[in-house]
Amino acid sequence: MMDDTLHRLLKRQVESHLNGVEITAELKNFISAVNEAYISQDKDRSLLERSIDISSQEYNENMEKIRTLQSQLVQQEKMAGIGQLSAGIAHEINNPLGYTQSNLDTLKKYLDKIKVFLETLRNFESTLQLENNQAAQELITTIHASRKKNKIDVIYDDIDDIIGESIAGLSRIEKIVKSLLGFARTSINSEYEEYDLNKGIKDTLAIANNEIKYFANVVEDLGAIPSIKVTGSSINQVLLNLILNAVHAIKEASQEGILTLKTFEKDGSICCRITDNGIGIPKENLDHIFTPFFTTKPVGMGTGLGLSIAYDIIINKHSGRIEVESELGKGTSFTIKFPTKGGQICDAK
Ligand SMILES: Nc1ncnc2c1ncn2[C@@H]1O[C@H](COP(=O)(O)OP(=O)(O)OP(=O)(O)O)[C@@H](O)[C@H]1O
Ligand SMILES: [Mg+2]
Repeated sequence: MMDDTLHRLLKRQVESHLNGVEITAELKNFISAVNEAYISQDKDRSLLERSIDISSQEYNENMEKIRTLQSQLVQQEKMAGIGQLSAGIAHEINNPLGYTQSNLDTLKKYLDKIKVFLETLRNFESTLQLENNQAAQELITTIHASRKKNKIDVIYDDIDDIIGESIAGLSRIEKIVKSLLGFARTSINSEYEEYDLNKGIKDTLAIANNEIKYFANVVEDLGAIPSIKVTGSSINQVLLNLILNAVHAIKEASQEGILTLKTFEKDGSICCRITDNGIGIPKENLDHIFTPFFTTKPVGMGTGLGLSIAYDIIINKHSGRIEVESELGKGTSFTIKFPTKGGQICDAK
């Protein structure tokens, strides 16, 4: 009988219990009713399993969202604390830095004068040497001995390098202090203004052009987007930091670089995506790149502040978002999102 259409469990039961039994029409109807019950039970079970699957997937997704939110909150707290701390330190350093730089400049001017004087002395020595008189010769010997003992010739040759390196070192410190002050500065003095993101990108590209032109071709994919209400100079700073990072990653990758800047409007946000085909960011670094002073660049090349400043400006000061996608060896994409409300740009904090 209808063996092929029977549910596998019922088939087994029929085979073991009804073997050799005559299957009457009533029995056949009964078996078919039981068969349908089995099949419908299977369907219900698989529906139930599917809905459990979906719920647990939703649960996992929600947990993931909660974890992300939690880490964003922790990050924000850290940023606020570090901001205050760095403002204090930067102010402390700024003052002595100012007078050390100015003293060094004065020292350089004084040394230039001393060098002129030493030159005059040298000329004087040469003239004396021509004199055929003992007092003059003794004087020259004394001068030579003192010059040698005090290593005047070595000092004379070294002095410009030492002063030059010190001035360069101090201006590096100055750059860090300025970045720290900029990072810590709240938006008290900055005005929120209508800002054309596409124009901001063009202006920033013009500034960074010298850094970019030898390493990457720029692709501008700028969409028709409305203006946003932000502090324009700080957004330009973010764009510059992201562009310079991208160029650096391209330089490291030693292949023809492509730097793409795209603007678009999506899900109520005005977005800007900066994509490079550079070295990419290792997964284990992704959690750290927004932390102040995190850098993978050699000493003197990076301060590790660029992205933390960008984070502070976009997330804390403009209630925006920054998303990163990166694949090692392939490239990286940073997306900045400015939220809008019902077509109106959200006022920044
Ligand atoms: N587009 C990118 N591709 C690859 N790595 C990146 C990219 N952007 C950032 N990174 C990584 O994140 C780190 C932190 O970046 P961040 O801009 O904060 O500091 P930095 O560039 O090292 O120094 P600076 O203070 O001069 O900007 C970088 O050192 C680099 O390892
Ligand atoms: Mg940087």
